[in-house]
Amino acid sequence: MTPPRYEAAATPPVDGYAPPPPGAPAARPGAGFPVAPPGAGAPAAPLRDGAAAPLRDGAAATPLIRLSGITKTLKGQEQPRTILAGVDLTVHSGDSVAILGRSGSGKSTLLSVIGLFDRPDDGQYLLGERDITRIAERKAAALRSAEFGFVFQRFFLLKHLTAAQNVAMALVNGQGWLPRRKRRAKVLAALDRVGIAHLAKHKPPRLSGGEQQRVAIARALVREPRVLLADEPTGALDTDTGNLVVEALLSTTAQGCGLVLVTHDRDHAAKMGRVLRLSDGLLAPAGERVVA
Ligand SMILES: Nc1ncnc2c1ncn2[C@@H]1O[C@H](COP(=O)(O)OP(=O)(O)OP(=O)(O)O)[C@@H](O)[C@H]1O
Ligand SMILES: [Mg+2]
Repeated sequence: MTPPRYEAAATPPVDGYAPPPPGAPAARPGAGFPVAPPGAGAPAAPLRDGAAAPLRDGAAATPLIRLSGITKTLKGQEQPRTILAGVDLTVHSGDSVAILGRSGSGKSTLLSVIGLFDRPDDGQYLLGERDITRIAERKAAALRSAEFGFVFQRFFLLKHLTAAQNVAMALVNGQGWLPRRKRRAKVLAALDRVGIAHLAKHKPPRLSGGEQQRVAIARALVREPRVLLADEPTGALDTDTGNLVVEALLSTTAQGCGLVLVTHDRDHAAKMGRVLRLSDGLLAPAGERVVA
């Protein structure tokens, strides 16, 4: 079975990821992922300030994710088309990486491989020290909900629920049963991390685009993902609002999240620790010519 591409999901993912199949094991934070938990070894910084203070424990720290030689060819067409031709990417805790590239270059395809919505044809994908290159969908679904947060250009918020209830959906779907008070505290903490705890009771139609996107980021953060994947999260926002959202995303790295941001906006990209360009199926530092 081919897992769905998340961009093309027929129904919006209410919690920012494709729900695990029936009977899939409940996500256990940290399961099979032997790296330092977010925030370990450093005081939690107030994320609203946007100050990224990477928590790298030095060069020896195990990367959060390591992709090497990842390839992906689209078949089922007249001519098979290679979208990813040997992508290498390493992301550590606290890293922020921007991925630029022209439309159709494969950025979303790459994010769907990183986020385990799709599998590569070749190469190796390590999550911590675990080889997940060919992980089965059932296990992938559990890892998606335990380790990854997703933010999309469209916010996929449920209009009839408050901001807090939208964020709480991710807990209901991903973490099994939590006592109400604990759930509420987690939700408010996630909203606070992106500076909108005071809007907890507002419903999306009463929120600005930037506020709605920050609710979506809070929803991605509430399960404390190790890797945050954002696919053109500012594509629907004006410049000022987009800047706020990028600051909110970037601030998550201060507590150890690894951030991968796909964007067409060079100014947003320039705020990340690294700027890469996907071209001819290969990732290279932006500005350097890629030789396929
Ligand atoms: N489900 C699919 N079936 C066939 N081709 C696809 C499918 N999804 C994507 N493609 C093709 O794969 C290529 C890469 O698509 P992808 O969505 O990864 O590009 P992108 O870099 O994210 O583009 P954009 O900046 O427009 O979002 C495109 O040429 C696209 O037409
Ligand atoms: Mg795309």
